[in-house]
Amino acid sequence: MGKHVVIGITGGIAAYKTMHLIRLFKKNGYEVRVTATANALQFVTPLTIETLSQNKLYTDMFDSHRTLEVEHISMAEWADALVVAPATANIIAKFALGIADDALSTLYLAVKKPVFVAPAMNSNMFENPVVQENIKILQNHGCRLLLPNEGFLACGTTGNGRMEEPEEIFDSVDEFLSDDHTLQGKRVLITAGPTYEPLDPVRFIGNHSSGLMGFCLAEAAARRGARVSIVSGPSSCTAHHQNIHRYNVKTAEEMYQQCMQLVDEQDIIIMSAAVADYTPAHVAPEKIKKDNAQLSIELVKTKDILASVGKIKRDNQLLIGFALETENEVENAKKKLHTKNADLIVLNSLRTAGAGFRTTTNQVTIYSKDGHEYVSELKSKQEIAQEILQTALKYIHN
Ligand code: CTP
Repeated sequence: MGKHVVIGITGGIAAYKTMHLIRLFKKNGYEVRVTATANALQFVTPLTIETLSQNKLYTDMFDSHRTLEVEHISMAEWADALVVAPATANIIAKFALGIADDALSTLYLAVKKPVFVAPAMNSNMFENPVVQENIKILQNHGCRLLLPNEGFLACGTTGNGRMEEPEEIFDSVDEFLSDDHTLQGKRVLITAGPTYEPLDPVRFIGNHSSGLMGFCLAEAAARRGARVSIVSGPSSCTAHHQNIHRYNVKTAEEMYQQCMQLVDEQDIIIMSAAVADYTPAHVAPEKIKKDNAQLSIELVKTKDILASVGKIKRDNQLLIGFALETENEVENAKKKLHTKNADLIVLNSLRTAGAGFRTTTNQVTIYSKDGHEYVSELKSKQEIAQEILQTALKYIHN
């Protein structure tokens, strides 16, 4: 029996490419059912969709000829994945807010399986902060974003906003759904997010980390069969896998304590958290008042979790650190391999547009202790997570 994919089509000119996507799934043995919005059917016809998918199109929740099945529920259960391509700004906003006013948006709420979203729109629309915020919300809810390429757009301009090519969409979904047990039986510890260092009962020193990179790593590792512990500072990201155990912490000290409890039993340790290097020496018991013209806060160093793990780690444990640099990046990143005794260091460059904090994409270079370097392209954080694990596999001790 082939795998089941539901394809959701919304009203964008790229809908014509989705016809090819349906063909690709069919050719590769998938069963395909399609739901399309009313606007999508301005671009492609039901006849084309039904002929290619060899299934009835689901578009109207209140169709008088429908069967007695509650279709959005039965389709949600039938599907191994939902792929929305092209996804307009409108459907992305509806998904982000939980609005369910047509067949596709209602189906989306009912689906518990992986959801892939391939946005397609004019570049100005794509870059609009509202659209970007909504895309982040979808990612934080566990959707996999298949991000558009730069290229020629139907509106006559060139830029961001073009739908990912059908072949790429197919490969991402197919790869995701194919069983990969490369980390079966392994235990993985991941740190994620920022830390909050309290100044008084209402204030803290924090940073811009969203935690998304760490959560993408946790999910990618769990899907490969690992048992994952994620120790996360305050983050709105959620983990979507039964093999992921989440430990919530706030401060660098709490993160350190939690990691030290877990470290011994791990095979791979990935420290992607943006841990505060300094914390206030004293936490005021009451809210600090603005009585003085100036205020100095004494800070003391926190414990370096990566370096501490580096000191006690066994030879059969793989330790991966992150480096976020604004200057002398390569030199500093490589130095961390030795000062922190890490096996791999993943360098995020803040200079690359679209990489680093509060972005949905990242671009990294991974340096290994044995002198190799692996350079990634700018990709979604989910894809970067896969690349990091793929590199880790080369160094893992079986
Ligand atoms: N890290 C950690 N504990 C800390 C500080 C950092 O575990 N108290 C980890 C991070 O999770 C990351 C790595 O160390 O994997 C690199 O952090 P970074 O801030 O780039 O480097 P620092 O060691 O803090 O050095 P510097 O800020 O001087 O570059």
